[in-house]
Amino acid sequence: MERSVSTAVVLCLTLSLGLGSSSHAYVLDDREGLGRVFDGIGGLSGGGATSRLLVNYLEPYRSQILDFLFKPNFGASLHILKVEIGGDAQTTDGTEPSHMHYENDENYFRGYEWWLMREAKKRNPNITLIGLPWAFPGWVGHGKNWPYDFPDITAAYVVNWILGAKQYHDLDIQYVGIWNERNYDSKYIKLLRYTLDKNGLETVGIIASDNLWEPIAFSLLLDPELSAAVDVIGAHYPGTTTVLEALETHKRLWSSEDYSTFNDEVGGGCWARILNQNYVNGHMTATISWNLVASYYEELPFGRNGLMTAEEPWSGHYVVEPPIWITAHTTQFSQPGWSYLQTVGHLGQGGSYVALTDGKGNLTVVIETMTHDHSVCIRPPLPPFNVTSQNATFQLKGSFASIKELHVWRSQFNFKTKKPSFFEKLIPVKLLDGSFTLNLAEDEVYTLTTITTGQKGSYPEPPASARFPKVYKDDFSVRNPPFTEAPDFADQTGVFEYHINLTDPGPHVFTLRQVVTQRPVTWATDADQTISVIGDYQWQNLTVTCDVFMESVMTGGVFIAARVNKGGQAVRSALGVFFWVFADGTYKVTNDIVGQTVLAEGQSGTHTYGWFTLSLTVKGQFASGLLNGFPLWQNAVVLTPNNGWAAIGTRSFELAQFDNFAVVAE
Ligand SMILES: *[C@@H]1O[C@H](CO)[C@@H](O)[C@H](O)[C@H]1NC(C)=O
Ligand SMILES: *[C@@H]1O[C@H](CO)[C@@H](O)[C@H](O)[C@H]1NC(C)=O
Ligand SMILES: *[C@@H]1O[C@H](CO)[C@@H](O)[C@H](O)[C@H]1NC(C)=O
Ligand SMILES: *[C@@H]1O[C@H](CO)[C@@H](O)[C@H](O)[C@H]1NC(C)=O
Ligand SMILES: *[C@@H]1O[C@H](CO)[C@@H](O)[C@H](O)[C@H]1NC(C)=O
Ligand SMILES: *[C@@H]1O[C@H](CO)[C@@H](O)[C@H](O)[C@H]1NC(C)=O
Repeated sequence: MERSVSTAVVLCLTLSLGLGSSSHAYVLDDREGLGRVFDGIGGLSGGGATSRLLVNYLEPYRSQILDFLFKPNFGASLHILKVEIGGDAQTTDGTEPSHMHYENDENYFRGYEWWLMREAKKRNPNITLIGLPWAFPGWVGHGKNWPYDFPDITAAYVVNWILGAKQYHDLDIQYVGIWNERNYDSKYIKLLRYTLDKNGLETVGIIASDNLWEPIAFSLLLDPELSAAVDVIGAHYPGTTTVLEALETHKRLWSSEDYSTFNDEVGGGCWARILNQNYVNGHMTATISWNLVASYYEELPFGRNGLMTAEEPWSGHYVVEPPIWITAHTTQFSQPGWSYLQTVGHLGQGGSYVALTDGKGNLTVVIETMTHDHSVCIRPPLPPFNVTSQNATFQLKGSFASIKELHVWRSQFNFKTKKPSFFEKLIPVKLLDGSFTLNLAEDEVYTLTTITTGQKGSYPEPPASARFPKVYKDDFSVRNPPFTEAPDFADQTGVFEYHINLTDPGPHVFTLRQVVTQRPVTWATDADQTISVIGDYQWQNLTVTCDVFMESVMTGGVFIAARVNKGGQAVRSALGVFFWVFADGTYKVTNDIVGQTVLAEGQSGTHTYGWFTLSLTVKGQFASGLLNGFPLWQNAVVLTPNNGWAAIGTRSFELAQFDNFAVVAE
């Protein structure tokens, strides 16, 4: 590669050369002491179900994706993994199962977050693990949508999850949060601290409150006992700034959820600017990306808002997106426990620089010159600023004055030529009298470092992208340990788990069972029905078949569906073609999940504790249904929607089972 780093002797600190050319000098110095301690860069799995499809990738692709996320000196090489403590409720892109569906129930093998934390730790034993609840099972709130009326129950529930992580997976959770982006309760936070300590978890820090800087910062200043209980103020989407009260607490400040942007180049630019400026402007020492990896159906809310994309387990296709390499610029050359220098800031012609040290002579400098147009974050929009090309001279002083050479890594977004290059290793820069000059263009990221171990990891190209298979079957007998859910089903309300009934004479020993029996303490607006979607959102004409088994005597009901057009936080307004049978011996065909727009209805003879086979065919504007292989209704007119996922579900939060699920799509 051509060399764009040049050495220069700069005699004065700010040179104004006139005629549009500009040059500034920046001192990097530790003689006046260091800045804040760096706590790391992380990714968030959850909030919710954002890693859902990752677990269903076949090897070697699944391990490759994990390497790009967690393996040191390979890709994003993340320092922090934050996960959702599943609460059985919809938390943006799906539900994640709780370790305690019911009050007397405990199981630390549900879902995939345990597995993900183990895989992360396998690759980086020093990774910082964080857990945070978005929602809670209904019993925690005693039926109210509020987890603080019985704070001892909520604290015990959360502490159980931390104890289970250690006992069953040998995972040490280092930090735990309160209730994602919802109100906190000071009494609960103190009780959580007390309960952690009582259980020998004194080393687990509390993050509060995973919302805005206020009112938590103000509360901490007023209440010394609360302040003693909280280790870190975690703010979400802080737009790189903080508030005076937060600084006055002298707590560590983290952007505990950030980014949430489509992961193309513009998203990469957003991430580059956030990672530097969260410290420069906001004194934040950790930044966590929502989300870790975009592993959910892209048509769910916030499609592809992850550091990379892995949304096709059926093909093995994945994409290492720009944010992975932007992360590497910081993570591969600094570690939690390093310190920022006090000498960080903005560049004269736009952009920013930070510098970090291990306190033993190593230095890492990260520079970004992202322009406003090319670093747009979804939320919140930052005020406009201008960046132009510039010459920047860095003068190293103090412990760094004698550094003779720095390794150079560069990313160029290069929107003009549309030929970006990410995380390229350039020729090292030689320093003269502790000084070097960079000719910085717009939309670039540079790392200059004494660390030699950086590496741009790679694997052979993964398989080509492909659509979800048109013919798909699952009889739920081939398990996918250690996971409790069947491949590619994405629960949007309720939790659908593998179930074994050893007293069944066959053929329904192995089934899928909806297990949430009470409305959870929700975070988003879950439906009043339960639903799990699967397949290709573009499907129009198809037949869905499934055996169903109702267990709820009075009000039981189950459905199979096609063309389901909404999930995530919008699941309550999902449209589609829903074929329901009920425990009272009737059936219905509706155009919506709430069951208001009825397309057909009548007698079915269905009842609880018996298996029935439902089959739904939708073609063009017509739908028809079979019960146990015989026509039950036909030529129902379907005007909308035109396409969507296949789905299964129940009428309410009730137990029900499903078996021999099959789709044949045109
Ligand atoms: C940077 O310095 C070079 C000479 O070293 C000069 O040709 C160029 O115009 C300068 N660029 C800017 C943006 O000032
Ligand atoms: C973990 O941290 C320790 C102490 O900071 C360090 O010596 C060790 O190399 C780290 N291990 C890995 C795999 O990064
Ligand atoms: C920098 O870190 C490396 C380990 O990455 C260490 O061997 C070296 O002594 C440190 N100090 C300097 C000045 O390079
Ligand atoms: C940015 O540049 C535009 C035109 O190029 C100018 O109108 C605007 O005032 C500049 N903004 C700042 C903050 O310098
Ligand atoms: C298990 O199978 C038996 C025999 O078919 C049946 O009576 C029972 O209801 C089933 N129980 C569950 C929970 O599936
Ligand atoms: C679905 O069937 C209708 C009616 O036969 C047809 O017009 C339409 O093109 C089909 N859609 C697809 C995607 O095959």
